[in-house]
Amino acid sequence: MKKPLLFLSLLLMAIAINACTSFVKKNNQAMMGTETDNQYAKKLWSVMEKEKLVGVQAKPLKPFFGGAKPHGMILEIANQTLNINGHTGFLVVKKNYGGKGVSVESVKKNRSKYLSSITVMYQRKAGYDVDNQDWFWVKYQPNGQFYYKNINQVKTALTGRVIKGKTDDDARGCIYCHRSAGGGDYIFYPEILKP
Ligand code: HEC
Repeated sequence: MKKPLLFLSLLLMAIAINACTSFVKKNNQAMMGTETDNQYAKKLWSVMEKEKLVGVQAKPLKPFFGGAKPHGMILEIANQTLNINGHTGFLVVKKNYGGKGVSVESVKKNRSKYLSSITVMYQRKAGYDVDNQDWFWVKYQPNGQFYYKNINQVKTALTGRVIKGKTDDDARGCIYCHRSAGGGDYIFYPEILKP
């Protein structure tokens, strides 16, 4: 290769490497909200929809007063095993109801009026997240769209390993809190037992 050409290609390579590393740095949390996570979360939603756990056809559950931050005043919870792409994993779905006038009674009368988010944890195949028992986390809007959070100026969907960081300090999010749940299974409610 001629010298100027070699120089030019080295320069281009250096620019590309720099762009990559700064992207990774910026998107330090690239372990969550990736395209693959989003696709998986969409698939998960469609399977939950078929099981009538979410969506307009969802079977009504039993609302109760939760009141704990960050999840909402009135809650409904369902858990079961679920098959996604040939893998059978344990699923916990939590519907969070809020807004003016929310109560167990008002939710029973009009679920869609008060439903604010659906938070889901699903245990994936071994190896998905070995540090956190392979839980896959999603925060959905009532219509199945995702919630987003700005992480280092990158709009990131709350899907996948939310939020896995290198240190405990930047690992705020579902994982951070749920890690401290009793029983060491990342599940707070003691009555929810994995089969
Ligand atoms: C600040 C701490 C905290 C964060 C952050 C948090 N949770 Fe929770 N989560 C709780 C607590 C406490 C409970 C049990 C009480 C309740 O439901 O409010 C719970 C309950 C749940 C449950 C019912 C199963 C169980 O653990 O008993 C699911 C599912 C869930 N959370 C999903 C999520 C998802 C998904 C995220 C992230 C988008 C998330 N949580 C973020 C504290 C947290």
